[in-house]
Amino acid sequence: TVVGGTGKFDAKKLEIHRSVSKNVPKEIPPFGTVATDHMLEIDFKGGEWQTPMIRAVEDLKIHPLAKVLHYCPVIIEGLKAFRGIDGQIRIFRGDASMSRMLASAKRAALPEFCPTQLEEMIVDLVRVDKEWIPLNEGTALYIRPLMAGLGVTRSKEAKLVVVCSPVGSYLTSGALKLYANPAHSRVAPDSAGAFKMGCNYAPTIALTDEAAAHGCAQSLWLWGEKQLITEAGTSNLFLFWKDKLGELELITPPTQGGLILPGITRDSILTLAREWAEFKVTERFPTMSELMEAAKEGRILEVFCSGTASVVMPCDRIVYKQKPYEDPVEMSVPCQADGESLYKKLHEAITGIQYGKIDRPEWTRIVK
Ligand code: COI
Repeated sequence: TVVGGTGKFDAKKLEIHRSVSKNVPKEIPPFGTVATDHMLEIDFKGGEWQTPMIRAVEDLKIHPLAKVLHYCPVIIEGLKAFRGIDGQIRIFRGDASMSRMLASAKRAALPEFCPTQLEEMIVDLVRVDKEWIPLNEGTALYIRPLMAGLGVTRSKEAKLVVVCSPVGSYLTSGALKLYANPAHSRVAPDSAGAFKMGCNYAPTIALTDEAAAHGCAQSLWLWGEKQLITEAGTSNLFLFWKDKLGELELITPPTQGGLILPGITRDSILTLAREWAEFKVTERFPTMSELMEAAKEGRILEVFCSGTASVVMPCDRIVYKQKPYEDPVEMSVPCQADGESLYKKLHEAITGIQYGKIDRPEWTRIVK
């Protein structure tokens, strides 16, 4: 069933209601804490998308019976707009983000929409608030689309909002420390883990507190008896090692099986690594015992995480609670092999495209 009727925003013209500008902060605020002046808001009522509107950011009014407050039909996206070294504004892989949002909407039984039309309206929103895009490299405008179901069961009423905030780096500390406890999994296979749904994030917050108690910023999510390594915190995970034959290999968990979110930065890394053709690139689940063995044999070169917020982040330590009643085992992993690490090369390539130093038009949309 196509819940959103035509899935279009009904050729209803976007209305832009400009508000008086708040002051753009001089310092970059903590991640996702300060909103720009405007948001995009589109209501879905009576089986139809209503007139899309860009208007002043303000609190949303939600009825206490709105289903999003009870059963969590909410989906999110994350994409960024950058101010390039040439002064131009670029949105990175907005089309991929919109397709993923549509897949999440279907999975969450929320109204469908036209992804290209939504992308165009996001471009309009970024243009309206363009003075909020920070100038320095390492900063961006984080764009957060979300859709919340307000009705009962399959939502006949929903609200789609896009809100933006100026951001710097997602985590402030240098390299990441990860905490692996086989008792904790992020999701179950083929459940909803492959979709950017709010219900995948809420249960992880308390478990992150346990990671923090072990001096770690994020959890390393394991799955099943074999302790498959799936994701790290809110990011995808990569392992760069020498395999048992001494060949260089980059491994990341596969999207098949529904245990990981199909990250857009993950996909960009895989595309670049395959284009470079300098080492094997494999999509499979490494296990915790393989990781331990490789660490003991000194075959691990790097472990790093990727995400829209975190870009590419090295990990230098894994704290592994192998047995429930024993102290965790600590494993250090190199993250800067001779100063020429793969994560840095990938970080430079991706941010090079985002800030307009490297031309990759199919991944960037210039906002004129
Ligand atoms: C992102 O990386 O864009 C995310 O949505 C993760 C979020 C926890 C900031």
